[in-house]
Amino acid sequence: MESYKVQQHKFDVVVVGAGGAGLRATFGLAQKGLKAACVSKVFPTRSHTVAAQGGIAAALGNMGEDDWRFHFYDTIKGGDWLGDQDAIEYMCKHAPEAVIELEHYGVPFSRTDEGKIYQRPFGGMTTHYGKGTAQRTCAAADRTGHAILHTLYQQSLAHDATFFIEYFATDLIFDDEGVCRGVLALDLNEGTLHVFRGQAVVLATGGYGRAYFSCTSAHTCTGDGGGMVLRAGLALQDMEFVQFHPTGIYGAGCLITEGVRGEGGYLTNSQGERFMERYAPSAKDLASRDVVSRAETIEIREGRGVGENADHTYLNLMHLGSDVINERLPGIAETARIFAGVDVAKEPIPVLPTVHYNMGGIPTNYHGEVVQKKGDDPDAVVPGLFAIGEAGCLSVHGANRLGSNSLLDLVVFGRAVAHRCAEIIKPGAAHKDLPSSVLDKALQRFDTLRHADGGTPTADIRIQMQKTMQSDAAVYRTQETLQDGCEKIAKVHASFDDVRVSDRSMVWNSDLVETLELSNLLDQAVATMNSAEQRKESRGAHAREDFPDRDDGEWMKHTLVWIDDAGKSRFDYRPVHMNTLTDDVETVPPKKRVY
Ligand code: FUM
Repeated sequence: MESYKVQQHKFDVVVVGAGGAGLRATFGLAQKGLKAACVSKVFPTRSHTVAAQGGIAAALGNMGEDDWRFHFYDTIKGGDWLGDQDAIEYMCKHAPEAVIELEHYGVPFSRTDEGKIYQRPFGGMTTHYGKGTAQRTCAAADRTGHAILHTLYQQSLAHDATFFIEYFATDLIFDDEGVCRGVLALDLNEGTLHVFRGQAVVLATGGYGRAYFSCTSAHTCTGDGGGMVLRAGLALQDMEFVQFHPTGIYGAGCLITEGVRGEGGYLTNSQGERFMERYAPSAKDLASRDVVSRAETIEIREGRGVGENADHTYLNLMHLGSDVINERLPGIAETARIFAGVDVAKEPIPVLPTVHYNMGGIPTNYHGEVVQKKGDDPDAVVPGLFAIGEAGCLSVHGANRLGSNSLLDLVVFGRAVAHRCAEIIKPGAAHKDLPSSVLDKALQRFDTLRHADGGTPTADIRIQMQKTMQSDAAVYRTQETLQDGCEKIAKVHASFDDVRVSDRSMVWNSDLVETLELSNLLDQAVATMNSAEQRKESRGAHAREDFPDRDDGEWMKHTLVWIDDAGKSRFDYRPVHMNTLTDDVETVPPKKRVY
């Protein structure tokens, strides 16, 4: 093995990722007097939070009656009773103060005539426990993520946190007692290796949408945190639950916000029919995303798709008028023009269900502490390790996330992690001495991949993985497609042993970096396909044609999956938390989910 010089850095806490969750955690830690480092693969304002459009949920009640308990109920129902109700209570109860805090930090929210934060309806959001429609999604036109990310970055700069920008984290460092002590990272500009020591490491690395062929996720969404956790021998949770957003642009994958339907837009089939009325008679186009994506899939399958190949549907907003479009939806008008060649004032946008969000990820409690099943304890904390945002699985989104709960999750739990770290970490505490051998495995892997000299280019393996996931871990699944998918993805995973890295330079855009990312994606692709094959029921985004009903008796539990070095999966399960944190709200018992 080549010998690598590894530079050492010491902080109280190291945050990996600079999207909404990572930034909120970083400056929250600095506010608490902890020395925080934020290590990010991309410049912070390029993080994928920038792409969130429609808004952030909070029961402010600015545009009609609302209550955080209604939000709590909607989130549990939206997640098809797989969400942990203690964490959901924490998120929904803290949502109003989190949004007001963002307003005070400077997020330029759209306004009502009275000057209050503008709120639009989003799918699955109701009042009075399913009876009315809530206008709960706080919006900055259709560029809410952009507005929030820039504001959070400005706040971060105002605090004493240190940014390491364009550093790619490759592996976690644990001591011999299983305490996470830091992370190994590659400086993508200098091509040098660095160890960031922290009393805690916070993974805020986002989702792994790029395991699929067509997704709304940025090219950087390669599940780097999840990959590191699996390699550390820890389990991921609920990986079978992958959200398809109903309105990705046909052929391009770009997101067209649910806010379009919130503002009155609707879907039609080749007969010009508003088909959602048949599938969700009350909520119609504002049913939860899994319901709308399944309806579109059925329309296409039954021959009522639009276009030359009858393989997509139309999203209509022509009737909304130019005032609404210009004021509330300017971004998607531009996106539709560039990526679909459509003038939204005159024509519908061609759309279809597109991979958008991973409900599964690194299991945590509502403080953001990573938990694992250990003996009789299903929620044993892994000391020194936290995960937040799409990388984590709290689980507040259960089997299906409601639109606009993701930006909320980022800020509420980014802040929660800062609170927790301040409780358990003493600023400036000495770091435990570690033998240099703690890095051996990570450096060996890095060197092996860097010099990989097989016969299969990285890009060939990646496309095989993406096509397999797209066809076999799709909106609808059966035992046959999943078994086939498990076999195919195992072969793709095995083909990584023959990978060829043609550009070994340790900097941006090199084949080496794409290969490291691919290894993260591959493990999570295997975890997703195999977890889906195991779960013999339909729940939320996991729709099995051969098991069309939810089976609470057998399956109201979180899947835990481990992947070994050979790509083999192992499973266990942990119970869903049905308890609430306080008496302010009651547990919502499972019932039939209709919209
Ligand atoms: O449709 C959207 O604007 C996406 C929002 C979300 O995923 O939360």
